[in-house]
Amino acid sequence: MVKNRTIFTGDNLPIMRGMADETVDLIYLDPPFNSNKYYEAPIGSKAEGASFKDVWRLTDTDLAWWGEIADVQPKLYTVIEAIGAAGGGSNMSYSIYMATRLLEMHRILKNTGSIYYHCDPTMSHSVKLMMDTIFGGNSFRNEIVWCYTGPGSPGMRQFNRKHDIILWYSKGAKWAFNSDDVRIPYKGGKPHVGGYGMDKDDVEEYGKKGKVPETWWEMRIAPRSTKEYTGYPTQKPLELLRRIVRASSNEGDMVLDPFCGCATACVAAEDEGREWIGIDVSELAFNIVKERLHKPREEGGIGSLFANAVIHLDKPPKDKNVKRSRDIKHTLYGQQEGKCNGCLMHFQFRNLEVDHIIPASKGGSEDDSNKQLLCGACNRKKGPNDMPYLVAQLRREGLRQ
Ligand SMILES: C[S@@+](CC[C@H](N)C(=O)[O-])C[C@H]1O[C@@H](n2cnc3c(N)ncnc32)[C@H](O)[C@@H]1O
Ligand SMILES: [Zn+2]
Repeated sequence: MVKNRTIFTGDNLPIMRGMADETVDLIYLDPPFNSNKYYEAPIGSKAEGASFKDVWRLTDTDLAWWGEIADVQPKLYTVIEAIGAAGGGSNMSYSIYMATRLLEMHRILKNTGSIYYHCDPTMSHSVKLMMDTIFGGNSFRNEIVWCYTGPGSPGMRQFNRKHDIILWYSKGAKWAFNSDDVRIPYKGGKPHVGGYGMDKDDVEEYGKKGKVPETWWEMRIAPRSTKEYTGYPTQKPLELLRRIVRASSNEGDMVLDPFCGCATACVAAEDEGREWIGIDVSELAFNIVKERLHKPREEGGIGSLFANAVIHLDKPPKDKNVKRSRDIKHTLYGQQEGKCNGCLMHFQFRNLEVDHIIPASKGGSEDDSNKQLLCGACNRKKGPNDMPYLVAQLRREGLRQ
């Protein structure tokens, strides 16, 4: 089991694939948005050197993963096809990337757990379709609109886009919602008499307790002027993550952020007494989270004593109890990027066959290292022979250079 306060550096897919089933209570993810931009942290900021690409193009590798999705969840394959029909190749590429990862998130989430997917109107409609498919439409809890303000540009030809979308799904029919931990003051101090069937005493009581927030949240972004600003591109405000953590998890619960950036969700989880795991391809996450945990509150940190306890790993975990939704064929399909090892052509998952590289009749072992994927035609051509034989055969037929 992955320990509390772990930061992984690396692609979150193999890392999540090494994590055990049903071990996480809350997942918050704020992945790239398909914004068609390159993000870089300002020079001189704590996060200098951080950058990530948010530009998507449909490649052969995407198509290989798409084929794999078809095998695991045929409906999801069709949904992605529809997303591509409506939005084109870049939307499809993004969706394939995210769907593959959402399937793992679904597996590692506990049955009482929740997932919050932070995105914006560029992809939120597509993401919602995918989440309906993976988590089920009945598990959709809220669409939260995070509203902020910011400058427009002169000569605008549309309204100033200043909100993000956060999609909340539970995994099952039971989920945590700690309404009393997230109450905010009523406008004007108390609710209207008669509103929601309240009598005078209720108005008094709820005036003190405050209200459960609506699904639109007005919160400041984490700009340069605030102490919590790290310079990390797309840093989210602590206040936002605190509200999510409080509402949808309990003390001691495990929170995972698989695209953690400067680890805002991890800092919020620590401060709210939750356990946490963060993953990012950028090496900066580890140092930034330590610094943010360590720094006193006056300087924008949380003054935690556990800053030095943070564990840094760069290899996927090897948890027991990982549902083998993936067998050797899936692994090979990923490694070969969906191509036949003979003719090197691209095939859908179902059209490839597992072959012994050195045939059993010639002493080849049953070990996974002696296995590869061939298309049906190549597999028949190879028969009980070895690879040099197949390659020679394909060359003769002009099917390989
Ligand atoms: C929008 S930012 C997250 C910002 C974060 N919520 C915060 O408050 O700092 C997205 C992050 O995802 C990371 N990322 C992109 N693809 C990834 C992958 N496959 N695995 C892990 N991290 C990834 C990027 O490096 C980037 O830090
Ligand atoms: Zn072939």
